[in-house]
Amino acid sequence: MIIALTGTPGTGKTSICALLEQHYRIIDLNALIKEEGLHTGKDEQRGSLEADMDALQDRVDELVTDKTATVIIEGHLSHLLTGIDGHIVLRTRPLVLAQRLENRGYPPQKVQENMEAEALDVILVEAVERYERVYELETTTTIPEDAALEVHSMIQRLESGDYEQLSGYLPGRFDWSEEVFG
Ligand SMILES: Nc1ncnc2c1ncn2[C@@H]1O[C@H](COP(=O)(O)OP(=O)(O)OP(=O)(O)O)[C@@H](O)[C@H]1O
Ligand SMILES: [Mg+2]
Repeated sequence: MIIALTGTPGTGKTSICALLEQHYRIIDLNALIKEEGLHTGKDEQRGSLEADMDALQDRVDELVTDKTATVIIEGHLSHLLTGIDGHIVLRTRPLVLAQRLENRGYPPQKVQENMEAEALDVILVEAVERYERVYELETTTTIPEDAALEVHSMIQRLESGDYEQLSGYLPGRFDWSEEVFG
């Protein structure tokens, strides 16, 4: 089974995956893009690499040959790949997200951009438009250890086809537009 763990930068994908390494094979898309040069160039204004989605898809297909083991593909572009069996979108209240990104040293414009994207549910909408099994997990007030346990249990439910038990994670529970747009 292939799980995409996605969400706006700073929602906790990498931190959570670091705690799940004993249980799952993890593919870190950001690392793959950087280390293997799977990009079309640099967005100078944003200071980020523009991922080459076709090359990324091909590389992921190559890496995931054993479909019997569960793999987590983590990164804010993971929901744009095909062949995913379940999507977990991490969500963080924009003001908390902003604090995390400021702590990382992100410039104000980049912080604002990500806060707005989170308030507008950009990644969630992209995932829901493409796929059926999309679930949201909030990481605003939990600690990474508890969030990792929750992701682990969500994946176990996906593996066993126990979708009813995932109803509490169905999309549409967060509306943070007021927080950012007033
Ligand atoms: N419940 C939580 N789950 C995960 N991370 C949390 C949680 N609460 C606080 N954090 C903190 O939020 C930060 C998340 O950073 P992390 O690099 O994991 O995000 P990311 O989603 O991988 O971002 P990017 O898309 O830029 O790679 C870390 O500093 C982590 O300790
Ligand atoms: Mg990350």
